[in-house]
Amino acid sequence: MGSLQFPKYLLVMILFSLCRSSIAQYEQERDALYALKHVFNDSFLNDNWNGLQCYENTSFWYGIQCINGRVTAILLEGGGLSGKVSADAFFVLSELITLSFRNNSMSGNIMDFSSNQKLKDIDLSRNMFDGQIPRSLLALNFLESLQLQDNRLTGSIPEFNQASLIAFNVSNNNLSGPIPGTHTLKSFSATSYSNNSPGMCDSSNPDTCYYTANDTAGESRKKSVATIFIVFDIIGLVTVILLLILYCKKSRKLKKLMKRNRLEEKDDEDLELEAGGSYYKESKDESNIQAGEQRVIAKEEKGNLIFMGDEAGFNLNDLLRASAEGLGKGLFGSSYKATLEGRPGVVVKRLRDLKPLSNEEFTQLLRIIADQKHPNLLPLLAYYYSKDEKLFVYRYAKNGNLFNRLHGGRGTRERIPFRWSSRLSVARGVARALEYLHLNPSSSLCPVPHGNLKLSNILLDENDTALVSDYGLTSLVALPIASQRMVSYKSPEYQNSKRVSRKSDVWSYGCLLLELLTGRLSVHSAPPGINGVDLSSWVHRAVREEWTAEIFDMEISVQRSAAPGMLKLLQVAIRCCDKIPEKRPEMTEIVREIDNIKYVASDDEDELSVDQSLTDESFSTNASSVVVAGNGRGW
Ligand SMILES: *[C@@H]1O[C@H](CO)[C@@H](O)[C@H](O)[C@H]1NC(C)=O
Ligand SMILES: *[C@@H]1O[C@H](CO)[C@@H](O)[C@H](O)[C@H]1NC(C)=O
Ligand SMILES: *[C@@H]1O[C@H](CO)[C@@H](O)[C@H](O)[C@H]1NC(C)=O
Ligand SMILES: *[C@@H]1O[C@H](CO)[C@@H](O)[C@H](O)[C@H]1NC(C)=O
Ligand SMILES: *[C@@H]1O[C@H](CO)[C@@H](O)[C@H](O)[C@H]1NC(C)=O
Ligand SMILES: *[C@@H]1O[C@H](CO)[C@@H](O)[C@H](O)[C@H]1NC(C)=O
Repeated sequence: MGSLQFPKYLLVMILFSLCRSSIAQYEQERDALYALKHVFNDSFLNDNWNGLQCYENTSFWYGIQCINGRVTAILLEGGGLSGKVSADAFFVLSELITLSFRNNSMSGNIMDFSSNQKLKDIDLSRNMFDGQIPRSLLALNFLESLQLQDNRLTGSIPEFNQASLIAFNVSNNNLSGPIPGTHTLKSFSATSYSNNSPGMCDSSNPDTCYYTANDTAGESRKKSVATIFIVFDIIGLVTVILLLILYCKKSRKLKKLMKRNRLEEKDDEDLELEAGGSYYKESKDESNIQAGEQRVIAKEEKGNLIFMGDEAGFNLNDLLRASAEGLGKGLFGSSYKATLEGRPGVVVKRLRDLKPLSNEEFTQLLRIIADQKHPNLLPLLAYYYSKDEKLFVYRYAKNGNLFNRLHGGRGTRERIPFRWSSRLSVARGVARALEYLHLNPSSSLCPVPHGNLKLSNILLDENDTALVSDYGLTSLVALPIASQRMVSYKSPEYQNSKRVSRKSDVWSYGCLLLELLTGRLSVHSAPPGINGVDLSSWVHRAVREEWTAEIFDMEISVQRSAAPGMLKLLQVAIRCCDKIPEKRPEMTEIVREIDNIKYVASDDEDELSVDQSLTDESFSTNASSVVVAGNGRGW
């Protein structure tokens, strides 16, 4: 009775913390569904119930419905599901409104629904549930339909008397009579009770059922007095809650505003990056630095270029005489493009800060790198080794690197929009290259087969095919340097336990996908001196706080027909970024999932005007329609 007397500040604090606990809640709900999946052990659900269970009002999972990120319905009908679900399986799903396991083979006792106060529909009919009908169902004040027919329930029927209850069926069980004579239970016909023990409804005369006497009048008067008190308490609580909701909304608005400001700053930075053009941007002029470097190399010329394939046809001198174009300074040295007469250009990469390796060791490691051949790997053509100079010669990729493609020239006229199909095809190509590296036995010598996957290490050839470069360098670089400069060493597991594994590559790939989807500069790829966003936590926050339209880069979010694909790819990215390496998928699984994402018919056809597409509604309407379509399974 006493919630009004309950210290108000305590209540306020509890409710305030509720505002903040939504991510924990989200994870608890996911864990509850995972537990359910584990009980059913159904191959379809095992496959399908993965990743993000709720995305605002949309679910990616078969049979799950969500509102505002919470699970509101579980509908798994006629799927041959079996197993005993534990009594507390639904404790955390406090927003559940509809639950149906109709026509399966589930057994055990009926679950406890005492914390599912919003339940309206429960359908457990045509299963093999046994035991008693739990009395916790009596406390569900919004219950409209309870279908328990065709099970093996025993015991007596609890005295249901909710005014809300309008559909009820317990026929074909082994329940014993008589039926409690409550107003509600008396309102149902004999077919709701038929085929139970003979003491309930006379099967020869189905309209005669045996009811006990009514509730005593005194009890109901007591109840009405209690109700009045409860109503007062509820009014008090509701007021506090409303105030809090207002507060929460305000602080969310504030956060949004702050975020907008940050983004504007970011845009300025992008422009600076573009204007300065100094980092990854190709400069058409021969730079003095590059010329100087060439001289250094020339002085030390002793050995010769070692070609990995049969590409031979030029030597170090040719390379040094070729016209060179600086491509910029990477973390492991600078690169330049050399154009030899009558041949395709090549990229020469000068490596520094390598481990002290003998020529033999170096050669051996290089062989391993060069032996990895895949259409989405930038091939290593040749290398040069001397005490003071190590060069890698790669094929030249005409369309530059992905970092420039994604971030370069934003807000300028020169910018060519980077549309969804191009991004999807890049994501696909990179996933395939990484899968190849992960499955290749020779790369097992490296703990992380790639180790440094990021936008600037992905090049685009003349057909915009993604070519992954810089793979295999982990084995050439000393650990202190690797841990400072390579992306895999920025993973949560390296921060926590100083360990990296191939799952660290998966994590890097997830970060890369997030960058590709959001178009925002990530901390892991931002050039020195420029602040990036920790995209993984940003996206989690965005999902939690319902900024749907703001997650995806505007250049792709205007493509309405691409929404389902984007959501799927986002789901993959979030799984790859899981803090726990074991929970991240294998590259093979990722490739399979990405292969299932369909290209849209045309990148420009379905483009809307920007204003229209910016509303959350147009996006999520589209998204939910897709999920419904995608869930089609012959259950
Ligand atoms: C799940 O089912 C598969 C066969 O479909 C079986 O091999 C596996 O052991 C089962 N797992 C559990 C936890 O029961
Ligand atoms: C989700 O559904 C709820 C209730 O139907 C609605 O209030 C809310 O605005 C919806 N959210 C989105 C993002 O559509
Ligand atoms: C029950 O589900 C099975 C498939 O498991 C289906 O063949 C059958 O028609 C369903 N029965 C009813 C009454 O829905
Ligand atoms: C029904 O329940 C009674 C006891 O209440 C039991 O003796 C009987 O075997 C049960 N029948 C079936 C078919 O389970
Ligand atoms: C209750 O279920 C039985 C068996 O499925 C069915 O025959 C009967 O018509 C149902 N009664 C009502 C009121 O839904
Ligand atoms: C039982 O309830 C009915 C109305 O539902 C009422 O007419 C009747 O008098 C009640 N009987 C007893 C014993 O309370």
